[in-house]
Amino acid sequence: MHSVFEVLTTNRMKHVEMNRNIMENELNIDWSSLPFGYMPTDYNVRCYYRDGKWGEIEVSTSETIDLHIAATSLHYGQEIFEGLKAFRGKDGKVRVFRMEENAKRIANSARGLCMVPVPEKLFCEMVEKVIRLNARFIPPYGSGASLYIRPLEIGITPSVGVRSATEYCFIILVTPVGPYFKTGFKPTNICIMRQYDRVAPQGTGRFKTGGNYSAGMKSNEHAHELGYSSVLFLDPKEKKYLDECGPANFFAIKNGVYITPASDSILPSVTNNSIMQLCRDMGIEVQARHITVDELAHVQEAGACGTAAVISPINEIDDLDTGVKYKVATDGQPGPVSTELYHKLRAIQLGEEEDTHGWNTIIEGI
Ligand code: PLP
Ligand code: COI
Repeated sequence: MHSVFEVLTTNRMKHVEMNRNIMENELNIDWSSLPFGYMPTDYNVRCYYRDGKWGEIEVSTSETIDLHIAATSLHYGQEIFEGLKAFRGKDGKVRVFRMEENAKRIANSARGLCMVPVPEKLFCEMVEKVIRLNARFIPPYGSGASLYIRPLEIGITPSVGVRSATEYCFIILVTPVGPYFKTGFKPTNICIMRQYDRVAPQGTGRFKTGGNYSAGMKSNEHAHELGYSSVLFLDPKEKKYLDECGPANFFAIKNGVYITPASDSILPSVTNNSIMQLCRDMGIEVQARHITVDELAHVQEAGACGTAAVISPINEIDDLDTGVKYKVATDGQPGPVSTELYHKLRAIQLGEEEDTHGWNTIIEGI
């Protein structure tokens, strides 16, 4: 025999569950086969810098912006962006991974392009707000998908003369995503092509600005045409050392040591930084240093790492100029260290393992 209170509570829970189902049905998303792409969500958040200060946070349902035809972002590439993810965990809680690091990095990119930095507190407040507003788009635990958060800042002052803007627009959009590389956690082939550079030696490589990606598009398309997932860029000065791996950092395991290229033309990856910490926790030595191309003949594992790429193991690296093929995954499978790092990182992000470094921010109540 149930009490009236129990019956009411049960009915209410059923009702909540029904509403949730209706909402999920409305979305009609096959979470487990999501690509890494854009899908409209309910809201984005915006903030404008005018008259020397940042204004109020605005919530928008519009997918477009009204931009002056002479805006500095359109003509002179004053655009910077970020990428981070939120996850629905095993315990049902929503976690956003290391957003303070992205806040710091976009401020650094702003300084690199003579733009006005978004204050860290404003950045984090807007990340939290946009996640809350789009909570129904956070993929369920177990789907393998996540909510990708894409903050961007653009110069909006009209100027035909080459100078930095005095006014800026900072926007954060979100979209649910699946794996970046179609192969997911299956080792993929990449290539070296010396006729392309992503950035200049003392250029913008360490900043996350759209221009770096447009500069890399030709090589990316060329690599895809040849059947490769990505280009492994070499240092733009000497073409001697490994640099970025498409839109991700590169790493390898050599005789039990985690090695990753260190250079001024590489974006300091939050994922790579986290993996290096996990390695140290696991007693694995870390070396961030120059890595020559021929050193690839002596590595036992290799991978690309980044927010979108997570950890994408590499099967083979083909040097298209010398004809040398560096077969890394000899059995075609991800190596043991890459696999352990992948699972450890994911487990922290999904709340399956203790977050000993305090990397996650829990967004309460959604
Ligand atoms: N390098 C480039 C060029 C990138 O676009 C990204 C992606 O953000 C990364 C590296 C990885 O950085 P993170 O791990 O912070 O996403
Ligand atoms: C990310 O990993 O967040 C990125 O920004 C890569 C993206 C350009 C695909």
